[in-house]
Amino acid sequence: MYNFDNEINRRGTNSLKWDALNERYGNPDLLPLWIADMDWETPSFIKEAITRQIADTPVLGYTITPPEYKSTIRKWILDHHQWDVKDEWLSFVPGIVKGIGMVINVFLKEDEKVIVQPPVYHPFFLTAQGNRREVVWNPLKPVYNNDGSLKTYEMDFDNLEKVCDEKCRLLILANPHNPCGIMWDRETLVRLAHFAKTHNLIVVSDEIHCDLAIFGHKHTPFATVSKEAAEVSITFSAPTKTFNIAGVISSWAIVINDDLRRRYYGWLEANELNEPTMFAPVATIAALSQGETWRREMLAYLEDNIRFIEDFCHENIPSIKPVRPQASYLVWLDCRALSLSHRDLEKLFTDKAGLALNSGRIFGKQGEGFMRLNAGCPRATLKVALEKLEKAVASLTDKK
Ligand SMILES: Cc1ncc(COP(=O)(O)O)c(C=O)c1O
Repeated sequence: MYNFDNEINRRGTNSLKWDALNERYGNPDLLPLWIADMDWETPSFIKEAITRQIADTPVLGYTITPPEYKSTIRKWILDHHQWDVKDEWLSFVPGIVKGIGMVINVFLKEDEKVIVQPPVYHPFFLTAQGNRREVVWNPLKPVYNNDGSLKTYEMDFDNLEKVCDEKCRLLILANPHNPCGIMWDRETLVRLAHFAKTHNLIVVSDEIHCDLAIFGHKHTPFATVSKEAAEVSITFSAPTKTFNIAGVISSWAIVINDDLRRRYYGWLEANELNEPTMFAPVATIAALSQGETWRREMLAYLEDNIRFIEDFCHENIPSIKPVRPQASYLVWLDCRALSLSHRDLEKLFTDKAGLALNSGRIFGKQGEGFMRLNAGCPRATLKVALEKLEKAVASLTDKK
């Protein structure tokens, strides 16, 4: 049994989450529940593999990628997602956001556009904008429970038809979705693939959260849902979210379509961007070949964390309604019932509660009234955070 209750001190480790609070939030003492890495110690079998690599390698010179790198990834995907990925479809990429930036540069002319479906992981549109490509917005449609609480979101195909013009060349999909934790169903993905094929779009399917399915949900790889999906897709995934090794920088692409693959992988190769550091394959192989027990125990603990948040909010902060994620450790908090402007909502979390969460606004304007909470931490940390939030919210009504 692994211990997920252990509170580790990450301050002073160059952790972006813990050591950049002053730069990002103007206060180094906030309790951070923002950026998507977890506060559980990276599993020892991964750290040991990296340490062993250093100890056993007298010269840290140029390396070749270990032969079992691709076969380990392929076995993982086959075992977990029943997808038989061919060796040549697979390539290392040095990070998914970087991979998306490369896709934009390889495939899109200067005047071609990128479709995103907000609220969505902000680097999807920031990367497009940073590369001077116009972003086309197709907001997700909220779906409500009978009691009026937000249940999930669905894709708006009618609007997609309206906003997509002949200059649109790429649609970036988060599958599962971040920040709302949605596992897209097969029917939606089939429909999206058909839309993409008939509108000459490439679909980047970012599946980095796919090994974090919870509450009985199951991931559907976009590229597997139809022939059209296989033809239009560039899939990205990684062990970095699941096994808490974001700092290692290790991810992969899967491209089935020969033409897309030749162009994309040719460009990666020409720029040596398909060549990992010596540590990325070692960490990936250790994670995928030894990590299943850790992953399962971590997900069980995470489900309890999410139930804890739900119960706590229900009992003590009913005006904040967590939307239950179907995958991953990011919880979309619907704070609209507080009736605050978004700026005041942000201030409530930072200035009154002393917490650093991701503001919903960064995921697009549809995120106003929401905050994203990272539940990948010991329960004791969550408890402290939620108690601070409860007090802050109570102080609002005290004043009224
Ligand atoms: C949907 C999604 N894609 C990509 C990333 C980051 O991936 P990478 O560090 O490989 O760029 C994240 C991290 O939060 C994410 O949530």
